[in-house]
Amino acid sequence: MALDVPRAKEALNLLDRLPDVRWVKVGPVLLTREGSEFARELVARKLSVFLDLKWHDIPNTVAGAVNAARELGIAMATVHTLGGAAMLEAAAAAAGDALGIVGVTVLTSHDAASFGDAVGRGSDVELDAEVLRLAELAQRARLRGVVCSPHEVSAVRRLLGDEAWLVVPGIRRRTDPHADQVRVATARDAVTNGATHLVVGRPILQASDPAAAFQEFVEEAQWVER
Ligand code: C5P
Repeated sequence: MALDVPRAKEALNLLDRLPDVRWVKVGPVLLTREGSEFARELVARKLSVFLDLKWHDIPNTVAGAVNAARELGIAMATVHTLGGAAMLEAAAAAAGDALGIVGVTVLTSHDAASFGDAVGRGSDVELDAEVLRLAELAQRARLRGVVCSPHEVSAVRRLLGDEAWLVVPGIRRRTDPHADQVRVATARDAVTNGATHLVVGRPILQASDPAAAFQEFVEEAQWVER
């Protein structure tokens, strides 16, 4: 579950109502406001913490951040694959077995023109191919897996084989509003296509009964024949 709320107090109150949640995603807003003490509190509650800070820096600095996350007891963290092979290898080497590092490929906020502009290739880029190229870079650097959209998950699964973690946001029930998510899928479809971890925020956070909504996602994800 993505803890996309502004304050720790709100997040912890919500988690009190969701005793079955095992994985929580903490992003830059909550971590910047509340600090690593908040992450420590989540770990103390025996939750698996996914730290989604999308690191992209020189290898030595990213390795240091990964070490700090490992010491905190974080279970999964993100880096940007655009940081390059040396940075990804440094992150993977620092992580050890208990911390899974997953790579962000192309942010879903990009279109071909904005991505091409950012990497100096004009509009001469094909986003699907870029995602696969960067996923392969992540695998060569021995990351645990990648973050990808529901739209890309089956192609990435085919490319990376059975072992990789595929972390997939943009998960909705059929009746949920899409909000600003463009590429969405149901939990069932995402898992059928090869997702190992689903990221769900607003459909649970904004539900009148968050525990019931959470349960619906869990049940749908479990109804999958691979
Ligand atoms: O509320 P919603 O279910 O759309 O939340 C999705 C979560 O996944 C948010 O925390 C968002 O930052 C994250 N995310 C995303 N799209 C990506 C990468 C991460 O929506 N490409």
